[in-house]
Amino acid sequence: MMNHLSKAMQSPRVLNIEDLRRAAKRRLPRVVFDYIDGGAEDESTLRANCRAFEAVTLRPRCAVATSVCNLQTTVLGTEVMMPLILAPVGSCRLMYPRGEEAAARAAGEAGIICALSTLSGCRLEEVAAASRRPVWYQLYLVGGRDCALAGIQRAQKAGFSALIVTIDTPVAGFRERDLRNGAKELLSGNLGTMLPFVNQILVRPRWLAAFLADGGLMKFENVVLSGKGPMHYADVTAALEQSVITWEDLKWIRQAWNRPIVIKGIHTEEDARRATDLGADALVVSNHGGRQLDGVASTLRVLPEVVSAVGDRIEVLLDGGIRRGSDIVKALCLGARAVMTGRAYAYGLGAAGGAGVSRAIEILRSDLLRTLKLLGCMSVAELDRSYVNVPRDWLAK
Ligand SMILES: Cc1cc2nc3c(=O)[nH]c(=O)nc-3n(C[C@H](O)[C@H](O)[C@H](O)COP(=O)(O)O)c2cc1C
Repeated sequence: MMNHLSKAMQSPRVLNIEDLRRAAKRRLPRVVFDYIDGGAEDESTLRANCRAFEAVTLRPRCAVATSVCNLQTTVLGTEVMMPLILAPVGSCRLMYPRGEEAAARAAGEAGIICALSTLSGCRLEEVAAASRRPVWYQLYLVGGRDCALAGIQRAQKAGFSALIVTIDTPVAGFRERDLRNGAKELLSGNLGTMLPFVNQILVRPRWLAAFLADGGLMKFENVVLSGKGPMHYADVTAALEQSVITWEDLKWIRQAWNRPIVIKGIHTEEDARRATDLGADALVVSNHGGRQLDGVASTLRVLPEVVSAVGDRIEVLLDGGIRRGSDIVKALCLGARAVMTGRAYAYGLGAAGGAGVSRAIEILRSDLLRTLKLLGCMSVAELDRSYVNVPRDWLAK
């Protein structure tokens, strides 16, 4: 089975992330595919994240011998094989059986870090064990402070090496595709309510068989509610709204977690300074992949502002719209230490499980290597502004 899936993911059928996206669309029910693919409201930020990379153009140095190119770097002191991190993506277990474990295993095999969402369908201990490399844990306060504290302690014990605190989710974004596809109705458990929407699932029998064999609808295994056990899937939207994170919370989180803290969801230099002053160890310039507040600027556009404000004090990461290795190069040229990617690997997971995630990582790795060679640059460490043209107003203060 694995072999067959690996083959289906190879060239010439799958050459780029868009091919993985199409393969995911073929295997997944619409409601699951759109959960990955969609964004908030008009999806303008989702599109802007990708388009921003086109506004930055490359400035190669030709006739340079680059037979050996070094993609390795460090992130928060951890050595990684390339400057790519798998971003926290909730509900991976809907995309593929034991999806979070499959993603962590693929990341470990590639020598990169995988970040696990609080909203995972697999137990965090099992995900840590599946990866052979450092893993990060992403924190939401769903279930309340005691529940989050228990999650933090479990993550610490299981060996997660950094904690990502996501700060851009005071409510879930208005994701219209999910509503149109009946995501809410399908979770209602009421047959009559579900009926108008079940066809999209019945036309994906392979996915359905795998989903049922994996135990059916996942629970949030790392959100254990006192006296009730793991949180049920249907309860998550309300739970998110009841658990808004504020800067105040960073104090007790800092006390509970004795390893690096990464703040994810930075959109402005003001928040970047605030997070840095409060003792964060790294930041992620992120708009949640255009899934939260639609109409915010693309992350690449915001990156220079954040780097110039805090880049000399703290490692700055970026996510949003990474679909090509050249996108990674551009982010690094503008000062990112590394990038995170969400959809690129989620498409792979939805298409073919771990084999698809491995293929997504491999596509981005070989893209990155080729881009460096074509740029005449020997290593990711050498990338800087001199390798790109940046629109003038991006750099103006
Ligand atoms: C399906 C999906 C689920 C996500 N779930 C979470 C989550 O649970 N926690 C979180 O901090 N970010 C979550 N994100 C946001 C990602 O971590 C990341 O910021 C985003 O995907 C980056 O944009 P990209 O998809 O264009 O790479 C999710 C993204 C997607 C696509």
